[in-house]
Amino acid sequence: MTEILPASEMFSDDVIARAAEILRGGGLVAFPTETVYGLGANALDAAAVARIFAAKGRPPNNPVIVHVASIAEARALAEEWPSAADRLAERFWPGPLTLVVRKRPHVPAIVTGGGPTVGVRLPGHPLARQLIAAAGLPVAAPSANRSNSISPTTAEHVLKDLTGRIDAVLDGGPTTGGLESTVLDLSTEIATLLRPGLVAPTEIEQIIGPIVQRRADAPIEREAPLPAPGQFPRHYAPRAAMQCAAEGHKLAARLAAEGVRVGRLVLDARPSAPSAIEILMPGEPIEYAAQLYSALHRLDDLGVEQIVVDLPPDTEPWLAIRDRLRRGSLQ
Ligand code: TXA
Ligand code: MG
Repeated sequence: MTEILPASEMFSDDVIARAAEILRGGGLVAFPTETVYGLGANALDAAAVARIFAAKGRPPNNPVIVHVASIAEARALAEEWPSAADRLAERFWPGPLTLVVRKRPHVPAIVTGGGPTVGVRLPGHPLARQLIAAAGLPVAAPSANRSNSISPTTAEHVLKDLTGRIDAVLDGGPTTGGLESTVLDLSTEIATLLRPGLVAPTEIEQIIGPIVQRRADAPIEREAPLPAPGQFPRHYAPRAAMQCAAEGHKLAARLAAEGVRVGRLVLDARPSAPSAIEILMPGEPIEYAAQLYSALHRLDDLGVEQIVVDLPPDTEPWLAIRDRLRRGSLQ
């Protein structure tokens, strides 16, 4: 059974205490952060963290982020805490930035994918901070979804994937950020962006100077239609196959004419394709990010076979959105 613990930013002391007790007892609690819901466990208890991997069906070599309630708690997990970490934490924490640093020996190998580094983050959501502080523990938490599916931005999304597999979900309503944190590796000689997120590379560079950005190799747009529905593996997020197109209305109309049940994310004022199930998306990247995953969850719930996404601009404010769209389109 998964307990649903309704919570608001104030007046939730009992609920927070219950969730903290579950974490201290080695259980799993999903909770809201300012990005997406995380699936938390005591980061210093290898058996508890192993339960996260089992609940998600996550490959064991993929490290999880450790969430802390203070900078001091982050430092206590790190063998080295570079001055860049101090400056970035000062500027962006609490917030959607994960810093990868060399780990202390007491951080279990299962948290770090067996590697020498640990990713740490002080989240901005008040309920997340209250929960971590009440538990008195660093909290390991990947996104609270089954491996390879869309990250959850509501407690309902969490339950859709994980009900019966986790002990509780702290329901704090929809998250505001909507995309996972920026992940920056500070254990390399020059800091390396591992995952773009809500903190942009140029904002980081203003604080610590140039960083290395791995250019994603695959082009985001694929004009050729995908194979017929049912012919490709459906284990990538979302359940429906997804593709981006500069002229999404034309692609959506063509697929619908072939008898495919098509969903489309319409960017701002682009032309409509009436034969597709369309969701109108904001033309502004922060609002777009906040709505992206819930729009994809909705299209999946409606049982569409293919999702056409209008290609967003190739500019920095859209970087994290394009990254997630690219990954979601992988076959
Ligand atoms: O916004 C977020 O980051 C959310 C919320 C819950 O905090 N968490 C999240 O976790 O997205 P997850 O596990 O879905 O993604 C974590 C990413 C993965 O790509 C993982 O490989 C990377 O961070 N990561 C974590 N620790 C790392 C480490 N020590 N070295 C390299 N990459 C690491
Ligand atoms: Mg995830």
